[in-house]
Amino acid sequence: MKREMHRRHLFRQMSRAAAALAWQQLFANPASAQVEVAPWTTSANVFSLGVASGEPRPDSVVLWTRLAPLPLMADGGMPPRPITIMWEVAYDEQFYRIARSGSTVVLPERAHALHLEVEGLAPGRQYFYRFMAAGQTSPIGRTRTAPDLNSKPSSLRMALTSCQHYEAGYFTLHREIAEADLDLVLFVGDYIYDTEMPGLTCVRQHPHEFPHDPSKYTLEDYRIHHASYKLDPDLRANHAAHPWLMVWDDHEVMNDYAADTAPDVEDKETFLKIRAAAYRAYFEHLPVSPKRMPTGPDMPMRDRYEWGQLAEIWTVDTRQYRGGHVCRGRPLIGAGEALWRCRAAGAESRTMLGQPQEDWLADTLLASSRDWKFIAQSTQISPGGLRTPLGRVYYADGWDAFPKARERLMSAIGQPRVQNVVCLGGDVHRHVAANLRVDPQDRNSEVVASEIVTSSLSSKGLSEFLSTWMRMSNPDLLHLRSDQRGYVVLDVTPQQLVAEFRGTPHPVMPQSKTQVQARFVIDQGVPGLRRV
Ligand SMILES: [Fe+2]
Repeated sequence: MKREMHRRHLFRQMSRAAAALAWQQLFANPASAQVEVAPWTTSANVFSLGVASGEPRPDSVVLWTRLAPLPLMADGGMPPRPITIMWEVAYDEQFYRIARSGSTVVLPERAHALHLEVEGLAPGRQYFYRFMAAGQTSPIGRTRTAPDLNSKPSSLRMALTSCQHYEAGYFTLHREIAEADLDLVLFVGDYIYDTEMPGLTCVRQHPHEFPHDPSKYTLEDYRIHHASYKLDPDLRANHAAHPWLMVWDDHEVMNDYAADTAPDVEDKETFLKIRAAAYRAYFEHLPVSPKRMPTGPDMPMRDRYEWGQLAEIWTVDTRQYRGGHVCRGRPLIGAGEALWRCRAAGAESRTMLGQPQEDWLADTLLASSRDWKFIAQSTQISPGGLRTPLGRVYYADGWDAFPKARERLMSAIGQPRVQNVVCLGGDVHRHVAANLRVDPQDRNSEVVASEIVTSSLSSKGLSEFLSTWMRMSNPDLLHLRSDQRGYVVLDVTPQQLVAEFRGTPHPVMPQSKTQVQARFVIDQGVPGLRRV
Protein backbone atom coordinates (compact mmCIF):
# COMPACT_ATOMS: atom_id res chain seq x y z
CA MET A 1 0.00 0.00 0.00
CA LYS A 2 2.80 2.33 0.98
CA ARG A 3 4.60 1.60 -2.29
CA GLU A 4 1.33 2.24 -4.21
CA MET A 5 0.92 5.64 -2.56
CA HIS A 6 4.50 6.51 -3.24
CA ARG A 7 4.15 5.59 -6.92
CA ARG A 8 0.92 7.55 -7.34
CA HIS A 9 2.48 10.57 -5.70
CA LEU A 10 5.52 10.16 -7.90
CA PHE A 11 3.56 10.07 -11.17
CA ARG A 12 1.41 13.03 -10.23
CA GLN A 13 4.37 15.16 -9.35
CA MET A 14 7.00 14.34 -11.88
CA SER A 15 7.61 16.64 -14.78
CA ARG A 16 8.66 15.31 -18.17
CA ALA A 17 12.25 16.35 -17.48
CA ALA A 18 12.34 14.52 -14.17
CA ALA A 19 10.82 11.36 -15.61
CA ALA A 20 14.04 9.71 -16.71
CA LEU A 21 15.52 9.95 -13.24
CA ALA A 22 12.38 8.57 -11.65
CA TRP A 23 12.44 5.64 -14.03
CA GLN A 24 15.95 4.75 -13.02
CA GLN A 25 14.85 4.70 -9.39
CA LEU A 26 11.84 2.52 -10.14
CA PHE A 27 13.80 0.00 -12.14
CA ALA A 28 16.50 -0.17 -9.50
CA ASN A 29 13.86 -2.09 -7.54
CA PRO A 30 13.77 -5.63 -9.04
CA ALA A 31 10.23 -6.16 -7.72
CA SER A 32 8.92 -3.46 -10.04
CA ALA A 33 9.69 -5.37 -13.23
CA GLN A 34 9.53 -9.01 -14.34
CA VAL A 35 12.89 -8.61 -16.03
CA GLU A 36 15.28 -5.82 -15.24
CA VAL A 37 15.69 -3.71 -18.35
CA ALA A 38 17.98 -0.74 -18.73
CA PRO A 39 15.99 2.50 -18.85
CA TRP A 40 15.42 4.21 -22.19
CA THR A 41 13.87 7.56 -22.90
CA THR A 42 13.03 9.60 -25.95
CA SER A 43 11.48 12.99 -26.58
CA ALA A 44 9.23 11.63 -29.37
CA ASN A 45 5.78 10.39 -28.36
CA VAL A 46 6.06 6.65 -27.72
CA PHE A 47 2.27 6.38 -27.32
CA SER A 48 1.52 7.73 -30.82
CA LEU A 49 -0.75 4.73 -31.55
CA GLY A 50 -2.85 5.27 -28.44
CA VAL A 51 -4.26 2.77 -25.98
CA ALA A 52 -7.03 0.21 -26.22
CA SER A 53 -8.88 -2.44 -24.27
CA GLY A 54 -10.93 -5.46 -25.21
CA GLU A 55 -12.39 -8.86 -24.42
CA PRO A 56 -14.05 -7.92 -21.11
CA ARG A 57 -14.72 -10.80 -18.72
CA PRO A 58 -16.25 -10.60 -15.23
CA ASP A 59 -12.82 -10.48 -13.59
CA SER A 60 -10.48 -9.38 -16.37
CA VAL A 61 -9.93 -7.21 -19.40
CA VAL A 62 -7.21 -7.03 -22.05
CA LEU A 63 -5.18 -3.82 -22.24
CA TRP A 64 -3.16 -2.89 -25.31
CA THR A 65 -0.61 -0.36 -26.43
CA ARG A 66 2.36 -0.39 -28.77
CA LEU A 67 5.40 1.81 -28.33
CA ALA A 68 6.18 3.62 -31.59
CA PRO A 69 7.86 7.04 -31.53
CA LEU A 70 8.20 6.83 -35.35
CA PRO A 71 5.03 4.94 -36.23
CA LEU A 72 5.51 4.93 -40.01
CA MET A 73 8.75 3.00 -39.70
CA ALA A 74 8.51 -0.78 -39.55
CA ASP A 75 10.24 -0.95 -36.16
CA GLY A 76 8.26 2.03 -34.87
CA GLY A 77 11.51 3.89 -34.30
CA MET A 78 12.21 1.73 -31.26
CA PRO A 79 15.63 0.42 -30.18
CA PRO A 80 16.08 -3.30 -30.95
CA ARG A 81 15.83 -4.43 -27.35
CA PRO A 82 13.25 -5.14 -24.63
CA ILE A 83 11.59 -2.14 -22.98
CA THR A 84 9.64 -2.04 -19.74
CA ILE A 85 6.12 -0.62 -19.60
CA MET A 86 4.44 0.16 -16.29
CA TRP A 87 0.68 0.05 -16.10
CA GLU A 88 -2.03 1.16 -13.74
CA VAL A 89 -5.73 0.32 -13.59
CA ALA A 90 -7.76 2.68 -11.39
CA TYR A 91 -11.32 3.08 -10.20
CA ASP A 92 -11.26 6.79 -11.03
CA GLU A 93 -9.99 8.95 -13.85
CA GLN A 94 -7.64 10.83 -11.51
CA PHE A 95 -5.92 7.56 -10.56
CA TYR A 96 -6.38 8.24 -6.84
CA ARG A 97 -7.68 4.71 -6.21
CA ILE A 98 -5.53 2.13 -7.93
CA ALA A 99 -7.13 -1.28 -8.47
CA ARG A 100 -4.17 -3.04 -10.06
CA SER A 101 -0.71 -2.04 -11.24
CA GLY A 102 2.51 -3.60 -12.38
CA SER A 103 5.12 -3.65 -15.07
CA THR A 104 5.86 -5.82 -18.02
CA VAL A 105 8.46 -6.06 -20.77
CA VAL A 106 7.68 -5.60 -24.47
CA LEU A 107 9.90 -7.07 -27.15
CA PRO A 108 11.21 -5.85 -30.50
CA GLU A 109 10.16 -9.12 -32.20
CA ARG A 110 6.57 -8.29 -31.16
CA ALA A 111 6.86 -4.69 -32.39
CA HIS A 112 7.00 -3.53 -28.74
CA ALA A 113 3.29 -4.26 -28.46
CA LEU A 114 1.70 -5.01 -25.11
CA HIS A 115 -1.24 -7.41 -24.63
CA LEU A 116 -1.96 -7.51 -20.96
CA GLU A 117 -4.73 -9.61 -19.48
CA VAL A 118 -5.39 -7.79 -16.21
CA GLU A 119 -7.03 -10.19 -13.78
CA GLY A 120 -8.54 -9.84 -10.33
CA LEU A 121 -10.94 -7.05 -11.29
CA ALA A 122 -14.46 -6.64 -9.94
CA PRO A 123 -17.36 -7.60 -12.23
CA GLY A 124 -19.62 -5.08 -13.95
CA ARG A 125 -17.68 -1.90 -13.30
CA GLN A 126 -15.82 0.85 -15.06
CA TYR A 127 -12.05 1.22 -14.84
CA PHE A 128 -9.46 3.65 -16.14
CA TYR A 129 -5.99 2.64 -17.26
CA ARG A 130 -2.71 4.15 -18.44
CA PHE A 131 0.82 3.12 -19.25
CA MET A 132 4.21 4.60 -18.48
CA ALA A 133 7.30 4.04 -20.62
CA ALA A 134 10.36 5.92 -21.82
CA GLY A 135 9.68 8.61 -19.22
CA GLN A 136 6.23 9.30 -20.68
CA THR A 137 2.67 8.64 -19.58
CA SER A 138 0.09 7.44 -22.09
CA PRO A 139 -3.35 8.90 -22.69
CA ILE A 140 -5.93 7.52 -20.26
CA GLY A 141 -8.19 4.73 -21.46
CA ARG A 142 -11.57 3.78 -20.04
CA THR A 143 -12.86 0.24 -19.96
CA ARG A 144 -15.29 -1.99 -18.12
CA THR A 145 -15.60 -5.57 -16.97
CA ALA A 146 -18.51 -7.83 -17.84
CA PRO A 147 -21.12 -8.41 -15.13
CA ASP A 148 -20.94 -11.41 -12.83
CA LEU A 149 -21.86 -14.61 -14.71
CA ASN A 150 -24.88 -15.28 -12.49
CA SER A 151 -26.13 -11.70 -12.32
CA LYS A 152 -29.15 -10.46 -14.22
CA PRO A 153 -28.06 -7.16 -15.78
CA SER A 154 -30.90 -4.90 -16.84
CA SER A 155 -29.15 -3.81 -20.04
CA LEU A 156 -26.29 -4.19 -22.51
CA ARG A 157 -25.62 -1.40 -24.97
CA MET A 158 -23.18 -1.90 -27.82
CA ALA A 159 -22.20 -0.39 -31.15
CA LEU A 160 -21.89 -2.71 -34.15
CA THR A 161 -19.24 -1.43 -36.61
CA SER A 162 -17.23 -2.53 -39.65
CA CYS A 163 -15.38 -1.56 -42.83
CA GLN A 164 -13.20 1.49 -42.40
CA HIS A 165 -11.45 2.21 -45.68
CA TYR A 166 -9.15 5.07 -44.75
CA GLU A 167 -9.31 6.66 -48.19
CA ALA A 168 -13.11 6.47 -48.57
CA GLY A 169 -13.99 8.70 -45.65
CA TYR A 170 -12.89 10.27 -42.39
CA PHE A 171 -13.22 8.32 -39.15
CA THR A 172 -15.64 10.88 -37.71
CA LEU A 173 -18.10 8.16 -36.69
CA HIS A 174 -15.50 6.71 -34.34
CA ARG A 175 -15.52 10.04 -32.50
CA GLU A 176 -19.30 9.87 -32.27
CA ILE A 177 -19.20 6.30 -30.93
CA ALA A 178 -16.43 7.25 -28.47
CA GLU A 179 -18.75 9.87 -27.00
CA ALA A 180 -21.75 7.53 -26.74
CA ASP A 181 -22.79 5.78 -23.55
CA LEU A 182 -21.93 2.16 -24.38
CA ASP A 183 -20.70 -1.04 -22.75
CA LEU A 184 -18.93 -2.42 -25.80
CA VAL A 185 -17.85 -1.79 -29.37
CA LEU A 186 -18.19 -4.80 -31.63
CA PHE A 187 -16.04 -4.52 -34.76
CA VAL A 188 -16.90 -7.19 -37.33
CA GLY A 189 -14.16 -6.84 -39.93
CA ASP A 190 -12.22 -4.88 -42.54
CA TYR A 191 -10.21 -2.93 -39.98
CA ILE A 192 -7.60 -2.01 -42.59
CA TYR A 193 -7.76 -2.14 -46.38
CA ASP A 194 -4.82 -3.37 -48.40
CA THR A 195 -6.24 -1.72 -51.55
CA GLU A 196 -6.12 1.88 -52.76
CA MET A 197 -9.15 3.69 -54.18
CA PRO A 198 -9.27 5.55 -57.50
CA GLY A 199 -7.97 9.10 -56.97
CA LEU A 200 -11.21 11.00 -57.54
CA THR A 201 -13.18 8.94 -55.02
CA CYS A 202 -10.66 9.43 -52.17
CA VAL A 203 -11.12 11.98 -49.42
CA ARG A 204 -7.54 11.29 -48.25
CA GLN A 205 -4.72 8.92 -49.12
CA HIS A 206 -3.22 6.05 -47.18
CA PRO A 207 0.06 7.31 -45.67
CA HIS A 208 1.52 3.96 -46.71
CA GLU A 209 0.81 1.93 -49.85
CA PHE A 210 1.09 -1.82 -50.30
CA PRO A 211 3.11 -3.09 -53.29
CA HIS A 212 1.06 -3.37 -56.48
CA ASP A 213 1.80 -7.09 -56.64
CA PRO A 214 0.00 -8.74 -53.66
CA SER A 215 2.45 -11.65 -53.65
CA LYS A 216 5.04 -9.12 -52.44
CA TYR A 217 3.17 -8.02 -49.28
CA THR A 218 5.41 -8.16 -46.20
CA LEU A 219 5.14 -7.93 -42.42
CA GLU A 220 6.58 -4.41 -42.65
CA ASP A 221 3.76 -3.38 -45.02
CA TYR A 222 1.09 -4.64 -42.64
CA ARG A 223 2.76 -3.07 -39.60
CA ILE A 224 3.09 0.33 -41.20
CA HIS A 225 -0.45 0.16 -42.56
CA HIS A 226 -1.94 -0.69 -39.16
CA ALA A 227 0.11 2.07 -37.57
CA SER A 228 -1.05 4.59 -40.17
CA TYR A 229 -4.72 3.81 -39.38
CA LYS A 230 -4.05 4.23 -35.67
CA LEU A 231 -2.62 7.69 -36.32
CA ASP A 232 -6.21 8.81 -36.91
CA PRO A 233 -7.25 10.56 -33.66
CA ASP A 234 -10.91 9.56 -33.94
CA LEU A 235 -10.06 5.86 -34.19
CA ARG A 236 -7.73 6.19 -31.19
CA ALA A 237 -10.47 7.98 -29.24
CA ASN A 238 -12.93 5.15 -29.80
CA HIS A 239 -10.39 2.56 -28.69
CA ALA A 240 -9.64 4.58 -25.56
CA ALA A 241 -13.33 5.06 -24.74
CA HIS A 242 -14.73 1.51 -24.76
CA PRO A 243 -13.62 -2.12 -24.68
CA TRP A 244 -13.81 -3.73 -28.13
CA LEU A 245 -14.57 -7.23 -29.35
CA MET A 246 -12.90 -8.11 -32.63
CA VAL A 247 -14.01 -10.18 -35.60
CA TRP A 248 -12.01 -10.04 -38.81
CA ASP A 249 -12.85 -10.23 -42.50
CA ASP A 250 -10.72 -10.38 -45.66
CA HIS A 251 -9.12 -6.94 -45.96
CA GLU A 252 -7.04 -7.39 -42.82
CA VAL A 253 -5.09 -9.79 -45.07
CA MET A 254 -6.14 -9.49 -48.74
CA ASN A 255 -9.29 -9.04 -50.80
CA ASP A 256 -11.54 -12.15 -50.92
CA TYR A 257 -9.03 -14.57 -49.39
CA ALA A 258 -10.36 -17.93 -48.21
CA ALA A 259 -8.25 -20.07 -45.88
CA ASP A 260 -5.00 -20.73 -47.75
CA THR A 261 -6.00 -19.20 -51.09
CA ALA A 262 -6.41 -15.68 -52.43
CA PRO A 263 -7.52 -14.72 -55.94
CA ASP A 264 -4.52 -12.43 -56.43
CA VAL A 265 -1.74 -14.79 -55.26
CA GLU A 266 -1.29 -17.97 -57.23
CA ASP A 267 1.07 -19.92 -55.00
CA LYS A 268 -0.46 -21.24 -51.73
CA GLU A 269 2.83 -21.31 -49.87
CA THR A 270 3.48 -17.67 -50.76
CA PHE A 271 -0.03 -16.75 -49.66
CA LEU A 272 0.33 -18.54 -46.31
CA LYS A 273 3.51 -16.55 -45.62
CA ILE A 274 1.57 -13.35 -46.36
CA ARG A 275 -1.30 -14.53 -44.14
CA ALA A 276 1.19 -15.18 -41.32
CA ALA A 277 2.56 -11.63 -41.70
CA ALA A 278 -0.94 -10.12 -41.78
CA TYR A 279 -2.14 -12.04 -38.72
CA ARG A 280 1.01 -11.13 -36.83
CA ALA A 281 0.59 -7.41 -37.53
CA TYR A 282 -3.13 -7.66 -36.73
CA PHE A 283 -2.29 -9.22 -33.36
CA GLU A 284 0.36 -6.58 -32.67
CA HIS A 285 -2.10 -3.71 -33.20
CA LEU A 286 -5.35 -4.80 -31.57
CA PRO A 287 -6.61 -5.32 -28.03
CA VAL A 288 -6.97 -9.08 -28.25
CA SER A 289 -6.00 -11.63 -25.63
CA PRO A 290 -2.37 -12.84 -25.53
CA LYS A 291 -3.79 -16.34 -26.11
CA ARG A 292 -4.51 -15.28 -29.73
CA MET A 293 -0.82 -14.77 -30.52
CA PRO A 294 -0.44 -16.34 -33.96
CA THR A 295 1.71 -19.37 -34.68
CA GLY A 296 2.86 -18.98 -38.27
CA PRO A 297 -0.29 -18.56 -40.43
CA ASP A 298 -2.65 -19.72 -37.65
CA MET A 299 -4.40 -17.44 -35.18
CA PRO A 300 -7.21 -18.61 -32.89
CA MET A 301 -9.89 -15.92 -33.11
CA ARG A 302 -13.21 -17.59 -32.26
CA ASP A 303 -14.52 -17.10 -28.73
CA ARG A 304 -17.56 -16.51 -26.50
CA TYR A 305 -18.32 -13.67 -24.10
CA GLU A 306 -21.02 -13.56 -21.45
CA TRP A 307 -22.89 -10.55 -20.14
CA GLY A 308 -24.31 -12.04 -16.93
CA GLN A 309 -27.48 -13.98 -17.71
CA LEU A 310 -28.57 -11.35 -20.22
CA ALA A 311 -26.47 -12.16 -23.27
CA GLU A 312 -23.81 -14.32 -24.80
CA ILE A 313 -21.76 -13.14 -27.78
CA TRP A 314 -19.97 -15.51 -30.13
CA THR A 315 -17.13 -14.01 -32.19
CA VAL A 316 -16.88 -16.24 -35.23
CA ASP A 317 -14.10 -16.54 -37.82
CA THR A 318 -15.46 -16.86 -41.38
CA ARG A 319 -12.09 -16.49 -43.16
CA GLN A 320 -9.39 -18.76 -41.78
CA TYR A 321 -11.15 -22.07 -42.42
CA ARG A 322 -13.60 -21.38 -45.26
CA GLY A 323 -13.78 -23.30 -48.51
CA GLY A 324 -12.13 -21.76 -51.55
CA HIS A 325 -13.78 -19.98 -54.44
CA VAL A 326 -15.72 -22.05 -56.93
CA CYS A 327 -16.71 -21.35 -60.53
CA ARG A 328 -15.23 -18.35 -62.21
CA GLY A 329 -16.66 -15.20 -60.72
CA ARG A 330 -17.69 -12.37 -63.03
CA PRO A 331 -17.13 -8.80 -61.91
CA LEU A 332 -20.45 -7.16 -61.06
CA ILE A 333 -19.91 -3.42 -61.05
CA GLY A 334 -19.70 -2.16 -57.48
CA ALA A 335 -20.46 -5.58 -55.98
CA GLY A 336 -17.28 -7.64 -56.29
CA GLU A 337 -17.30 -10.98 -58.08
CA ALA A 338 -20.67 -12.50 -58.87
CA LEU A 339 -21.70 -16.13 -59.45
CA TRP A 340 -24.47 -17.46 -61.67
CA ARG A 341 -25.50 -21.05 -62.27
CA CYS A 342 -22.61 -22.41 -60.18
CA ARG A 343 -23.45 -25.97 -59.25
CA ALA A 344 -20.23 -26.38 -57.22
CA ALA A 345 -21.31 -23.67 -54.77
CA GLY A 346 -24.17 -25.89 -53.63
CA ALA A 347 -21.94 -28.81 -52.57
CA GLU A 348 -22.69 -30.25 -49.14
CA SER A 349 -18.99 -30.17 -48.24
CA ARG A 350 -18.67 -26.41 -48.70
CA THR A 351 -17.83 -24.78 -45.37
CA MET A 352 -17.72 -21.21 -44.16
CA LEU A 353 -16.51 -21.89 -40.61
CA GLY A 354 -14.66 -25.21 -40.89
CA GLN A 355 -16.08 -28.30 -39.20
CA PRO A 356 -14.56 -27.82 -35.71
CA GLN A 357 -15.85 -24.24 -35.46
CA GLU A 358 -19.24 -25.23 -36.89
CA ASP A 359 -19.58 -27.98 -34.26
CA TRP A 360 -18.39 -25.70 -31.47
CA LEU A 361 -20.93 -23.04 -32.43
CA ALA A 362 -23.82 -25.53 -32.63
CA ASP A 363 -22.88 -27.19 -29.31
CA THR A 364 -22.36 -23.98 -27.37
CA LEU A 365 -25.57 -22.44 -28.76
CA LEU A 366 -27.47 -25.46 -27.53
CA ALA A 367 -25.84 -25.27 -24.11
CA SER A 368 -26.37 -21.53 -23.58
CA SER A 369 -29.04 -20.40 -21.15
CA ARG A 370 -28.55 -16.66 -21.70
CA ASP A 371 -31.58 -14.50 -22.64
CA TRP A 372 -29.99 -13.34 -25.92
CA LYS A 373 -27.48 -15.04 -28.19
CA PHE A 374 -25.49 -12.88 -30.59
CA ILE A 375 -23.49 -14.51 -33.36
CA ALA A 376 -21.00 -11.87 -34.51
CA GLN A 377 -19.37 -12.75 -37.82
CA SER A 378 -18.09 -10.81 -40.77
CA THR A 379 -20.77 -10.65 -43.44
CA GLN A 380 -24.46 -10.86 -44.41
CA ILE A 381 -26.01 -14.29 -43.84
CA SER A 382 -29.43 -13.60 -45.37
CA PRO A 383 -29.65 -13.97 -49.16
CA GLY A 384 -28.68 -10.93 -51.18
CA GLY A 385 -28.78 -12.42 -54.66
CA LEU A 386 -30.39 -10.65 -57.62
CA ARG A 387 -33.33 -12.25 -59.38
CA THR A 388 -32.93 -12.49 -63.18
CA PRO A 389 -35.00 -14.34 -65.81
CA LEU A 390 -32.14 -16.83 -66.08
CA GLY A 391 -31.69 -17.49 -62.35
CA ARG A 392 -30.14 -15.74 -59.35
CA VAL A 393 -26.87 -13.85 -59.54
CA TYR A 394 -25.07 -13.60 -56.21
CA TYR A 395 -21.94 -12.37 -54.50
CA ALA A 396 -19.14 -14.97 -54.76
CA ASP A 397 -17.53 -14.07 -51.43
CA GLY A 398 -20.52 -14.28 -49.05
CA TRP A 399 -22.88 -16.83 -47.47
CA ASP A 400 -24.90 -17.01 -50.73
CA ALA A 401 -21.97 -18.96 -52.22
CA PHE A 402 -22.15 -21.42 -49.27
CA PRO A 403 -25.86 -22.38 -49.18
CA LYS A 404 -25.39 -25.74 -47.45
CA ALA A 405 -23.19 -24.23 -44.74
CA ARG A 406 -25.87 -21.60 -44.18
CA GLU A 407 -28.55 -24.25 -43.99
CA ARG A 408 -26.56 -26.17 -41.35
CA LEU A 409 -26.08 -23.00 -39.29
CA MET A 410 -29.77 -22.14 -39.53
CA SER A 411 -30.71 -25.70 -38.52
CA ALA A 412 -28.48 -25.40 -35.45
CA ILE A 413 -30.12 -22.08 -34.59
CA GLY A 414 -33.56 -23.55 -35.29
CA GLN A 415 -33.30 -26.20 -32.56
CA PRO A 416 -36.29 -25.78 -30.23
CA ARG A 417 -34.02 -25.20 -27.21
CA VAL A 418 -32.08 -22.43 -28.97
CA GLN A 419 -34.05 -19.21 -28.64
CA ASN A 420 -33.43 -15.52 -29.26
CA VAL A 421 -30.54 -15.74 -31.67
CA VAL A 422 -29.48 -12.54 -33.42
CA CYS A 423 -26.85 -12.72 -36.16
CA LEU A 424 -24.63 -9.66 -36.50
CA GLY A 425 -22.50 -8.85 -39.55
CA GLY A 426 -20.80 -6.23 -41.70
CA ASP A 427 -18.68 -6.33 -44.88
CA VAL A 428 -21.39 -5.40 -47.40
CA HIS A 429 -21.37 -1.64 -46.78
CA ARG A 430 -25.13 -1.41 -46.22
CA HIS A 431 -27.51 -1.43 -43.28
CA VAL A 432 -29.62 -4.58 -43.36
CA ALA A 433 -32.38 -5.93 -41.11
CA ALA A 434 -33.51 -9.40 -42.14
CA ASN A 435 -35.41 -12.45 -41.02
CA LEU A 436 -33.50 -15.73 -41.23
CA ARG A 437 -35.14 -19.02 -42.26
CA VAL A 438 -33.68 -22.54 -42.53
CA ASP A 439 -34.64 -22.53 -46.22
CA PRO A 440 -34.40 -18.90 -47.27
CA GLN A 441 -36.19 -19.45 -50.60
CA ASP A 442 -39.22 -21.09 -49.00
CA ARG A 443 -41.76 -18.71 -47.49
CA ASN A 444 -43.18 -21.63 -45.48
CA SER A 445 -39.85 -22.33 -43.80
CA GLU A 446 -40.11 -20.78 -40.34
CA VAL A 447 -38.15 -17.73 -39.24
CA VAL A 448 -35.57 -18.98 -36.73
CA ALA A 449 -33.49 -15.87 -36.07
CA SER A 450 -33.00 -12.19 -36.84
CA GLU A 451 -30.12 -10.55 -38.62
CA ILE A 452 -28.62 -7.10 -38.20
CA VAL A 453 -25.87 -6.05 -40.60
CA THR A 454 -24.13 -2.74 -40.15
CA SER A 455 -23.17 -0.40 -42.93
CA SER A 456 -19.53 0.63 -43.22
CA LEU A 457 -17.88 3.33 -41.13
CA SER A 458 -16.39 4.83 -44.31
CA SER A 459 -16.24 2.34 -47.24
CA LYS A 460 -18.48 3.06 -50.24
CA GLY A 461 -21.70 1.09 -50.74
CA LEU A 462 -23.63 -0.34 -53.70
CA SER A 463 -25.43 1.84 -56.23
CA GLU A 464 -29.08 2.64 -55.59
CA PHE A 465 -29.95 0.63 -58.71
CA LEU A 466 -28.40 -2.57 -57.31
CA SER A 467 -29.78 -1.94 -53.82
CA THR A 468 -33.32 -1.60 -55.15
CA TRP A 469 -32.90 -4.74 -57.25
CA MET A 470 -31.60 -6.60 -54.18
CA ARG A 471 -34.55 -5.46 -52.02
CA MET A 472 -37.02 -6.55 -54.70
CA SER A 473 -35.31 -9.93 -55.08
CA ASN A 474 -35.31 -10.82 -51.36
CA PRO A 475 -38.52 -10.31 -49.37
CA ASP A 476 -36.83 -11.24 -46.08
CA LEU A 477 -34.71 -8.10 -46.30
CA LEU A 478 -36.94 -5.86 -44.18
CA HIS A 479 -34.52 -2.97 -44.49
CA LEU A 480 -31.59 -2.36 -46.83
CA ARG A 481 -29.79 0.92 -47.52
CA SER A 482 -26.38 1.26 -49.15
CA ASP A 483 -26.28 5.02 -49.60
CA GLN A 484 -25.27 5.90 -46.04
CA ARG A 485 -22.28 5.12 -43.91
CA GLY A 486 -22.96 4.34 -40.27
CA TYR A 487 -23.17 1.93 -37.39
CA VAL A 488 -25.87 0.22 -35.36
CA VAL A 489 -26.54 0.79 -31.66
CA LEU A 490 -27.95 -2.31 -30.01
CA ASP A 491 -29.89 -1.74 -26.80
CA VAL A 492 -30.51 -5.05 -25.11
CA THR A 493 -32.82 -5.65 -22.15
CA PRO A 494 -34.29 -8.95 -20.90
CA GLN A 495 -37.57 -8.28 -22.71
CA GLN A 496 -36.49 -6.60 -25.91
CA LEU A 497 -33.69 -5.64 -28.27
CA VAL A 498 -33.80 -2.28 -30.01
CA ALA A 499 -31.52 -1.86 -33.04
CA GLU A 500 -30.96 1.75 -34.05
CA PHE A 501 -29.46 2.01 -37.54
CA ARG A 502 -27.60 5.31 -37.66
CA GLY A 503 -26.39 6.81 -40.94
CA THR A 504 -24.83 9.79 -42.66
CA PRO A 505 -24.36 10.47 -46.40
CA HIS A 506 -21.28 9.17 -48.20
CA PRO A 507 -18.46 10.18 -47.93
CA VAL A 508 -17.99 10.78 -44.22
CA MET A 509 -16.41 14.18 -43.71
CA PRO A 510 -14.94 15.69 -40.51
CA GLN A 511 -18.20 17.53 -39.74
CA SER A 512 -20.52 14.58 -40.57
CA LYS A 513 -23.08 13.50 -38.00
CA THR A 514 -25.31 10.45 -38.07
CA GLN A 515 -29.07 10.43 -37.72
CA VAL A 516 -31.44 7.57 -37.07
CA GLN A 517 -32.04 5.84 -40.41
CA ALA A 518 -34.31 3.10 -39.08
CA ARG A 519 -35.23 1.44 -35.81
CA PHE A 520 -36.17 -2.21 -35.38
CA VAL A 521 -37.25 -4.22 -32.34
CA ILE A 522 -36.88 -7.91 -31.55
CA ASP A 523 -39.09 -9.19 -28.75
CA GLN A 524 -37.88 -11.90 -26.40
CA GLY A 525 -39.20 -15.28 -27.59
CA VAL A 526 -40.24 -14.03 -31.06
CA PRO A 527 -37.70 -14.57 -33.87
CA GLY A 528 -37.68 -11.85 -36.51
CA LEU A 529 -37.62 -8.06 -36.48
CA ARG A 530 -40.35 -5.44 -36.55
CA ARG A 531 -39.91 -1.81 -37.57
CA VAL A 532 -40.83 0.81 -34.97
FE1 LIG B 1 -15.43 -3.81 -46.38
